[in-house]
Amino acid sequence: MCGIFGYIGNKEAKEILFEGLRRLEYRGYDSAGICVIGEDGSFTRLRVRGNLDVLENHIAGAQMPGKIGIAHTRWATHGAPSEQNAHPHTDCHENLFVVHNGIIENFSQLKEELLERGHEFSSETDTEVVAHLIEEKYEGDLSIAVREAIKEIEGSFAIAVVQRKEPSTLVAARRESPLVVGIGKDEWFVASAVPAFLSRTKEVIFLEDDEVVCIGGDSLKITNLEGFEVERQAQEITWDLDAAEKSGYEDFMLKEIYEQPRAFTDTLADKFNREGDISLEGFLLDKDYAKSLRRIVIVACGTSYHAGLIARYLFEQWAKVPVEVEIASEFRYRGAVLCERDLVIAISQSGETADTLASVRETKATGVPVIAVVNVVGSQMTREADGVIYTHAGPEIGVAATKTFTSQMAALAVLALHFGKLRDALSEGKYGVITEALRGIPDLMEEVLSSDEQVKECAHRFSDCDDFLFLGRGISFPVALEGALKLKEISYIHAEGYPAGEMKHGPIALLDKNVPVVAVAIRDSLYEKMISNIEEVKARGAPVVAVASAGDPDIEKICDRVLRVPESMELLSPPLAIIPLQLLAYHIAKIRGCNVDQPRNLAKTVTVE
Ligand code: G6P
Repeated sequence: MCGIFGYIGNKEAKEILFEGLRRLEYRGYDSAGICVIGEDGSFTRLRVRGNLDVLENHIAGAQMPGKIGIAHTRWATHGAPSEQNAHPHTDCHENLFVVHNGIIENFSQLKEELLERGHEFSSETDTEVVAHLIEEKYEGDLSIAVREAIKEIEGSFAIAVVQRKEPSTLVAARRESPLVVGIGKDEWFVASAVPAFLSRTKEVIFLEDDEVVCIGGDSLKITNLEGFEVERQAQEITWDLDAAEKSGYEDFMLKEIYEQPRAFTDTLADKFNREGDISLEGFLLDKDYAKSLRRIVIVACGTSYHAGLIARYLFEQWAKVPVEVEIASEFRYRGAVLCERDLVIAISQSGETADTLASVRETKATGVPVIAVVNVVGSQMTREADGVIYTHAGPEIGVAATKTFTSQMAALAVLALHFGKLRDALSEGKYGVITEALRGIPDLMEEVLSSDEQVKECAHRFSDCDDFLFLGRGISFPVALEGALKLKEISYIHAEGYPAGEMKHGPIALLDKNVPVVAVAIRDSLYEKMISNIEEVKARGAPVVAVASAGDPDIEKICDRVLRVPESMELLSPPLAIIPLQLLAYHIAKIRGCNVDQPRNLAKTVTVE
């Protein structure tokens, strides 16, 4: 996720561009850049590694004359944060400049073809192919060139483009990534989100997929992919700035919960090639290596640890590799015995968590390879691990992890599938069925999100309880752990996650009518056992909230509230089952007046022991 911004009008662009970027900083902040085109076709471009404070220092004294320009604040997906990889990117002759938000899925193939045709690249980004493609298509009309270029692009994008030969034209286009046009008095803006220009105009047009907007000569024209003009009425924005930054959501956490289908899709996107095969890099591709694996050890903290617990089932069932999952702060001091044919997988949203990082170092000292599953590109862990698999969740601002958790599941599922195939543990047929089911998860997530009202009602019923027990069995047990963690993190209610079968060995003593039990009771291979556990709970007078499959008519009879999720493959149920629990924690916390984005005593990234 990045922020893009463009300006064309009757004022000097530099300050306006920077002010717009400030409002988009929540979308990414590892590098940034601005390019302004002068009336005579001259240009000034400034790019930095670092956040907008660093950019501000650089542009403070810089002469950047011109009333048209584009700007970018980056959240790296391809290529580490660096000045070279920062946007705006350019073509071979520094004639045109592009800023981009999204992921160009076929960029490797496009880049190869462009290189063969003599183009020279100066960054490792997927975006740069867009600049060179437009360069090839340009025959004197930037808008047509952009349209022709995006026909060849697969993936998601919102782009803004300027060209020195047309120094009074700004062109922008989108597919799947957001792009909105702001209409001021004798000035226009294009941006990833409304806040970028809300202080200057409230009149907007939201572009649809595959539309190209061309602004210049006092007019604005929107065309579709076929080149036909599209009529679109401007609308008036009624939100305030704070709401706009959160895209209308009350909190970042809620926004991030709703972003999960998108984050899951993006995480899968760069892991499959055009033929639908998994494309990972380095030694992970080696069949002999995969076959020789003796054991996988997963290390992580917090929510990432729970993703590891879920992944254990996938690696064991699909790839038939034994797996151990360890809390990093324990692993690093345990003197764990690692053997030659072990693989360690470190999972971390931030890539900076001190204990997980120390575990990576402990492992490397033994010579055993480490793969890091990380969200923040270029973070410390990505530099120290032997291989990196990225989740593409975009920046997560809420302290409680949500979209990064489900994205970790997507990334780990791909790795487990990959090993399953290389180790001949999965037949072609089974591999195909799982791949298909995995790709279908984002749509099912949307379905779960659409039943938020039921979750909200349930939250009202139980918001004044002081203790909760979360139960699950099999792959739903880590889901219960994560549900309990979410609730305690943001609502400060005591909540315990437990394997349902173990309840009778202790927690059952806690139960009475004031202790609600949240049971993850998906219709899976352990469903009947779970139902027996729910009966045991009911017999002690505790109310039960079940997370249950959509097609399960009977569960209502024994539970006080039922939160439904669509049926899916058993091992792929966690990214669905966790959503009602995230929402339950969210609504209970809101009802109790808690600050869900910044809960007390917690930090997003824990870089100390
Ligand atoms: C902190 C955060 C959690 C996160 C954990 C691990 O405790 O509040 O949300 O799960 O760190 O962070 P990591 O960045 O390594 O995934």
